[in-house]
Order: sequence, then structure tokens, then C-alpha cells
Amino acid sequence: MKKSYGVNELRRMYLEFFESKGHLAMKSFSLVPHNDNSLLLINAGMAPLKPYFTGQEIPPRRRVTTCQKCIRTGDIENVGKTARHLTFFEMLGNFSFGDYFKHEAIAWSWEFLTKVLGLEEDRLYPSIYGEDDEAFDIWTKEVGIPEDHMVRLGKEDNFWEHGSGPCGPCSEIYFDRGPEYGCGKPTCGVGCDCDRYMEIWNLVFSQFDADGKGHYERLARPNIDTGMGLERLACVMQGVGNLFEVDTDQSVLH
Ligand code: ALA
Repeated sequence: MKKSYGVNELRRMYLEFFESKGHLAMKSFSLVPHNDNSLLLINAGMAPLKPYFTGQEIPPRRRVTTCQKCIRTGDIENVGKTARHLTFFEMLGNFSFGDYFKHEAIAWSWEFLTKVLGLEEDRLYPSIYGEDDEAFDIWTKEVGIPEDHMVRLGKEDNFWEHGSGPCGPCSEIYFDRGPEYGCGKPTCGVGCDCDRYMEIWNLVFSQFDADGKGHYERLARPNIDTGMGLERLACVMQGVGNLFEVDTDQSVLH
């Protein structure tokens, strides 16, 4: 049964869940990148961790979890137009630096959403990258997702890269907020631009190092990079209409 949790509670529950799976919880890094000329501002949980993904630096542990402050300049035009974009947001993430890979990342995401938070399974839809049959099989055969709840999307949606650095195919988890939030078009479904199917979590199977000019080098050991918008998760858990209505924003606004 879904309970309503506050933003601060959700942040703590996420970090504690991944600590229980052997992750080291680290503090959010600064919004200003350090030694990374490819970004103006930190835009994802993985961005400050790039040297650990590429092997340039040794991580304090091969499993890390963070709640990272982020700004996506590319999202700014959407703020106020959609229910799901903010100028500033926090990203929950669990990371594997050459340690676990797809099986664990998928199984734990499902465990956290459905067992820890109690989200209704039939309202969740995982997407996968085009031909990623391995991810499809893990979702359908190991986790038990019905095939009609799986969606295959293209590179634009399901291949994650930002500037140079580690990147790869991904699997996103969408929550169906119901037809009242939809555009009503017959084609509306996962991946539609409207606010019905809200993407809450992105699991990136990070297996290449991009030079930012179209060249991809396969990494010796694949990594996991996940990102879940804390405010989006809160919006879904609290059953509110948009990200400005979650508890922490409301306490500032009133
Ligand atoms: N780095 C991935 C993202 O930001 C998880 O969506």
C-alpha cells in the first residue's frame, strides 16, 4: 500500500536502502564542476564521479550512493510548462564502478519502488534501449514484468550521454499518474511529452567512454549510473499535481 512520504524522508530512505546493499553514502558535491570543462554546472549524480567511472581515480568504494544537487540548463525552457521540470533539483543515484551490473541495478530499483515505497506495480512501466534484449529479459523473466508493460525506445530517450565521458544504453522507469494528467491523444503512452507517464528513474548501463565527438571506447569494466529525480518521486508518492506542490516547496511557498 502506497504511503505518502516527505522529500526529506524519501532522500533518507533511498540512501539507507543502498547502504544496506553495500554502498557508501557520500554527500552531494558542489554544483560547480571541478576539473571538467565539458559542463557549466553539475547536471547529474554521475557528473562529479566521472574520474571513478573512467578509472582515472580510485573510488572510496566500488558501490556509492548520493543525493546530488543538479541544474539542467536545457530544462529551463520547460519550467512552468510541464509538471515535471525544475531549474534546480536533487538526483538520487546508486553507482557501481566496475562492480555490479544490470541484474542487480534492475532488481534493486524494483525492490525499492515496490517493496520499500509500496508503489503499485501495475502503474510502473520500464523502458529499454531498442535492441537491449538482455535488459528486456531481466525485466520480464527475472523481475516478472508483463511484456505489455515494457516499452522499447530509441537513442534519444534511452541512450544516456552528456558531453564527454562514461555513457551507455539505459532503462527508464515511468509511473502512470492516470488519464487526468494526460494529453488524451490516442497515441499517448510511455515516452509521450505530456505529464501522464512520468519518468522517475533512469538506470544507465554505462559501458562506453565518449570523447564528445562521436567516438565511443568500450570501458574495460562496465559500470552502473542511476538517477532518480527526488522531487518527481515525491510528486508521485504524495499524489500531487506537479513538482511545486511537494511538501518542501509548499513549506517555503506558504
Ligand atoms: N545519469 C543519468 C541521468 O542523469 C542517470 O539520467
